[in-house]
Amino acid sequence: MAEKDSSVREVLEDVFDQRTVLAVLHLMNRGVLAKLYGTVSTGKEARVYWGKDRDGRDLAVKIYLIVTAEFRRGRLKYILGDPRFEGASLRGRELIYAWARKEYRNLRRASQFGIPCPKPIAVYENILVMEFIGRDGVPAPLLKDSPPSRPYEAFRELQSYIERMVLEAGLVHADLSEYNILVEDDRLVIIDWGSAVLSSHPNAEEFLLNDIRNVYRFFRELGVDTGRPEEFFEHIRSQMR
Ligand SMILES: Nc1ncnc2c1ncn2[C@@H]1O[C@H](COP(=O)(O)OP(=O)(O)OP(=O)(O)O)[C@@H](O)[C@H]1O
Ligand SMILES: [Mg+2]
Repeated sequence: MAEKDSSVREVLEDVFDQRTVLAVLHLMNRGVLAKLYGTVSTGKEARVYWGKDRDGRDLAVKIYLIVTAEFRRGRLKYILGDPRFEGASLRGRELIYAWARKEYRNLRRASQFGIPCPKPIAVYENILVMEFIGRDGVPAPLLKDSPPSRPYEAFRELQSYIERMVLEAGLVHADLSEYNILVEDDRLVIIDWGSAVLSSHPNAEEFLLNDIRNVYRFFRELGVDTGRPEEFFEHIRSQMR
């Protein structure tokens, strides 16, 4: 235990507090996580680490930073209005925990409906453990850095995911763009589901139109004749309950 403790501490550096170190150790004791290696990504709100489970399978371990008032203000709009978080105390660490749980549930829901995303494995406090998309600790490239060889087909594929996400899974991603889509062997995998809301959320339509505009802009720049984003939005909206 002492040995694990110090190696986890080393990997987490000074970015995370004692409580986060304990949370990682808890996941190890539960048998969810066997190893934690270096960072795959250091964002403003979260760091993503490469890890392994007991069977040697790669894991992505996303650890949310316990952060600033600015994060709180920015995030509240995606949490208030979501019945899944009614009654949750949303101050301090609790808000970050709610955010990690929200991403976990969104991933679970999206996977259940066959939307390509990392399979969620566990969530505990500010830590989300999921399937690793990539190989040997190297994540698959972002769509923005790895434009598909057949852009029209990729565009159509994404359109169908957006439509199924809303009409079947009842979710709007709300942060969809070439920055949150990984390309694994020509397969598109949608990541970063913390912002996603139920399609019944009061701002769901606004978020959906924004997602569609981002995707359309990216593919238009690749030369795809996308048509108007508003038209596709309307096509989906008219079928939303
Ligand atoms: N399941 C995963 N498998 C492999 N790599 C992942 C996975 N999830 C996230 N990553 C890597 O970590 C990066 C950041 O993840 P994500 O977009 O979920 O977090 P973020 O909070 O938006 O961070 P940032 O502020 O850096 O965008 C991704 O661009 C990707 O490189
Ligand atoms: Mg992201």
